[in-house]
Amino acid sequence: MSAIQPPANRLWWKEPIERIEITWVLIAFVWSMVLFFMMPYWHVFGSQNLANEAYKNTPEKFTAKTQEMVDKYKVREETGLNDQKIPVVHPPAGGDVYLIARLWQWWPILELEAGQTYRLHLMSMDWLHGFSLQPENINIEVHPNYEHVLTVQPTKAGTYSIICNEYCGLNHHTMASRLFVTEKK
Ligand code: CUA
Repeated sequence: MSAIQPPANRLWWKEPIERIEITWVLIAFVWSMVLFFMMPYWHVFGSQNLANEAYKNTPEKFTAKTQEMVDKYKVREETGLNDQKIPVVHPPAGGDVYLIARLWQWWPILELEAGQTYRLHLMSMDWLHGFSLQPENINIEVHPNYEHVLTVQPTKAGTYSIICNEYCGLNHHTMASRLFVTEKK
């Protein structure tokens, strides 16, 4: 009997397992174990995976923190996709930076310095949004009532795009912004 043709014996489940079948089961099992242990391995030794933290918080408190940063470190304004004026903020290197996700904008626009480390705090004011940084491979779900914190170090100066990659309603496609990275000062 082969593994492809129909069984010759009607009571096929009473036959001893075929060698070829048990071989494939074992190969699949070993490979799934390799992939399973690659996840923690890659998290520790790869330099790609995000190690993010999440804390319960309220939109009011998060907005207050963000507003405080904007008031202190605003450098100019830019026009967003929905024609609103959005402040551009250049916070001090090494510190905490805040970004609000809401229908349908990212607020404010952050300007960071290459080679510096920041604690990037993200929170949604309403419902699920997705923070996707292009062309980098950074992707994180942004939930309401949870503050997500990422430790980030921009490597290259330039203008990056932030797009929302979780469908969040009518104007989901306009929920795009920028992230500026300047040379180290
Ligand atoms: Cu926010 Cu889609």
